[in-house]
Amino acid sequence: MANLPKIALGAWAWGNDGTFGGQLSNETLKAVFEKGLEKGFKLWDTAYAYGMGTSERVLADFLKNHARNEYLVSDKFTPQCADEANANAMSDMIAMQLKLMELDKFDIYWIHNVVGAPRWIEDLAKYYDGKADCPLIGVSNHNLEEIKQANEILQAHGLRLSAVQNHYSLINRSSEASGILEYCKENGIYFFAYMVLEQGALSGKYDTKHPMPEGSARAETYNPVLDKLEILNNALKKLADKHGVGPAQIPVAWAIAKGTLPIIGVTKPSHVDDAAKAVEVVLSDAEIKELEAVANGLNLNVIRFWEKEMK
Ligand SMILES: NC(=O)c1ccc[n+]([C@@H]2O[C@H](COP(=O)([O-])OP(=O)(O)OC[C@H]3O[C@@H](n4cnc5c(N)ncnc54)[C@H](OP(=O)(O)O)[C@@H]3O)[C@@H](O)[C@H]2O)c1
Repeated sequence: MANLPKIALGAWAWGNDGTFGGQLSNETLKAVFEKGLEKGFKLWDTAYAYGMGTSERVLADFLKNHARNEYLVSDKFTPQCADEANANAMSDMIAMQLKLMELDKFDIYWIHNVVGAPRWIEDLAKYYDGKADCPLIGVSNHNLEEIKQANEILQAHGLRLSAVQNHYSLINRSSEASGILEYCKENGIYFFAYMVLEQGALSGKYDTKHPMPEGSARAETYNPVLDKLEILNNALKKLADKHGVGPAQIPVAWAIAKGTLPIIGVTKPSHVDDAAKAVEVVLSDAEIKELEAVANGLNLNVIRFWEKEMK
């Protein structure tokens, strides 16, 4: 297995596409990025779909001031952004993204979802077959059957599946229940957990008195259930006090303890400081069980429009 950091930092919100609410300035994001490198977080996750190139462009602008060995770029092929009638859609997309990011190669490249599957993983396998600049290849938002199929297709081209990236949090553990985590562990595949903080809903920052910014996609999802989430946030706060950290560090520590590599969406330098502290928090088995019991008791499963429950 490649040697990756314990946490990746996510740049979806950097796309300013209305998911999170408000507008993030390049000045703020530059401070976030520099703090990330200072704290040893090399791995940055983005996608063309995050603001149709905006997130990639912002990240690229910061990367160019640094040596190539100081950072790792995780980028995605989003089927909805490609022209399926174009036989060269995969190579065109990769070329366009590399140009946008001013890079020679990606470190990790993902098929973002299963729309059109298995065409895109086949095209990707053909594209990188025998190429020296082949990144780690991953699939995202795939169920177990689809993951196995993707791995077989890659193996037929002398490649392998190195990573899976799915929604995984205290209130969405379907990748665990469906055996995906176990399959990844048995096969030396990284499992990247996205939305461990449920876009801030499990950070202790938002509650019924302080809802998420109106007009954003996350507000529509989480604001109606903030009363339930408060119960879990109270449990996070209790555990955080015990470990001398903030509530947002506990879901991250939980995800690491479960053997996953969390991708944390960061929009402020303090989020990076918090992520660095979260790596140091070791939760006991009893604490993990207690947290999961509180989460299960809420009977919440926040499946977003682009994903499905993993069965
Ligand atoms: N493959 C896929 O389909 C997929 C889907 C979703 C996400 N992802 C990837 O995973 C990454 C993470 O997901 P995400 O950004 O959607 O959600 P997330 O990591 O669950 O939440 C990010 C939000 O949590 C808040 N936050 C972060 N650290 C905090 C801290 N220490 N204290 C308080 N609040 C904190 C921030 O909210 P405020 O900005 O309000 O402060 C931030 O915008 C994305 O950036 C993306 O790279 C991939």
